[in-house]
Amino acid sequence: MTMRDEGKARPQTSREKIEQLRRTKIHLRRGGGSERIERQHQSGKLTARERISMIVEEETFQELFLFARHRSTAFGMAGKELPGEGVVTGTGTYNGRQVFVAAQDFTVIGGSVGESHADKICQTMDLALKCGAPFVCINDSGGARIQEGIDALSGYGRIFYRNILLSGVVPQISIIAGPCAGGAAYSPALMDFIIMVRGTAEMFITGPQVLRQVTGEEITAQELGGPDAQMSSGVAHFIAESDADAAHICKQLLSFLPANNLEDPPSYGTGELEFFPDYTLDTVIPDNPREPYDIKPVIQRLVDNGEFLEIQASFAPNCVIGFARIDGHTVGMVANQPAVMAGVLDINSSDKIAGFVRFCNAFNIPLVTMIDVPGFLPGTEQERGGIIRHGAKMLFAYGATTVPKISIILRKAYGGAYLAMCGKDLGADRVAAWPSCEIAVMGPEGAVNIIFRDQIQKAENAVAAREDFVRQYREEFASPYVGAARNLIDDIIEPNETRRYLSLALASLRNKRELRPQKKHGLLPM
Ligand code: HXC
Repeated sequence: MTMRDEGKARPQTSREKIEQLRRTKIHLRRGGGSERIERQHQSGKLTARERISMIVEEETFQELFLFARHRSTAFGMAGKELPGEGVVTGTGTYNGRQVFVAAQDFTVIGGSVGESHADKICQTMDLALKCGAPFVCINDSGGARIQEGIDALSGYGRIFYRNILLSGVVPQISIIAGPCAGGAAYSPALMDFIIMVRGTAEMFITGPQVLRQVTGEEITAQELGGPDAQMSSGVAHFIAESDADAAHICKQLLSFLPANNLEDPPSYGTGELEFFPDYTLDTVIPDNPREPYDIKPVIQRLVDNGEFLEIQASFAPNCVIGFARIDGHTVGMVANQPAVMAGVLDINSSDKIAGFVRFCNAFNIPLVTMIDVPGFLPGTEQERGGIIRHGAKMLFAYGATTVPKISIILRKAYGGAYLAMCGKDLGADRVAAWPSCEIAVMGPEGAVNIIFRDQIQKAENAVAAREDFVRQYREEFASPYVGAARNLIDDIIEPNETRRYLSLALASLRNKRELRPQKKHGLLPM
């Protein structure tokens, strides 16, 4: 029963109107009804409201636009009731901090996006922008509402436009908890972080049916656009095991981030600096420079409570990025991963690091870069794939960044990769090196083959001569004392005192201000 049908016989009393409002709200909040909710649960998915209740504190949730209605009349849509227009929108708090949310309701016409559905999302985004609060969007939708034609497309366009307006002003987090296909995938792609739920999330531009018709390729939707596929393509940032896990990851992320670009990230703890020496770090670097080691435990030993939220863990695993805290303050950690491909830089790792550095700069998050990099990955595949263009993104991102930048050189820092990983010349505010570090144009083995070629050939014992030159090169040329003598390294530190170095350096940079020449925007290589 609708509001219009009721109370025709006599005017309603105030109490009746209130009762009617209550009933209407209960009805609208049931979305597509118990049968469809049951189907949603059976397919391993929560409802839009259940999902929101896992992100914002329930008693603080203030729903917006519950009474929205569509205006379409074609294809049997005239008068068709779509409770909430297939999306729940509103605002509430997480840990007392304001968040704006939109969650598509698959139980109502497949969560498809029509004019009014899109308008609800747009107005919620406008409020997030005006109020300087993060925007979280939970996607579970059949895409553009086919019956609404261009109005549905226009709705998407308006959402994309706002994703771009919000970009760099408030954090935008997208949870993919169902289908998100075709052009619809571009709204999450324009946001800062994508969390995909294993088993239910799917993202692709060209679906499996189309591929079957066009290329004959037999592929399932999960194989094509499931979380694992989109993690290895670099589209997804996190894989969640369930809707509840996705909400948990979303809240973890929010805890590291400021509400907007004019604020600093929230800080936790006492505000005291903590300097615990960690002597296990003194033996992390193997004596053999070719031997790999895992950088992640090193990061965990340097940050508060060993808590490190890794991002894009299985995309370009030869580098590691993520958030942690030092003395209660958020830091963005970037590191080469010597355990994977010796920590070399390639196309994907350049993209991964560049994107993360840009995000941290936009949201006032200091960067700590841990360097152990043998260079850029050589090979025709990388050259043809545009390693110059992609590597340049990373150089540009670091150079254009004005938040505090601290680099620690652990072991190798060779060639352009040394500069790309934010050496002093790319604007690092502070650079420290471990005594095991080697900085040079190239590794000693390659270098002596070029500069001492004649002497090695003429030597009685070429192998011994070569080894001698390598030692000489390492000691005289590549050692951290050379860089320190030129003030390119501000201190050579024992590994065990790295936390102390970071704590003090970050504290000294807390009020850093760096002004750059006025311009509309720089031209990040694309
Ligand atoms: C209108 C839609 C819809 C849509 C689903 N529904 N998608 N209605 N427009 N895009 C409706 C269904 O008709 C159905 O209604 C209900 O939602 C649930 O859908 P089912 O098909 O029963 O669910 P399921 O079997 O789980 O399949 C989900 C699905 C499938 C894979 C998403 O519905 C599907 O393929 N939908 C169409 C996807 C699509 O091609 N969308 C347009 C993409 S183009 P009833 O009443 O029968 O239960 C696009 C362009 C965006 O989005 C461009 C932006 C620039």
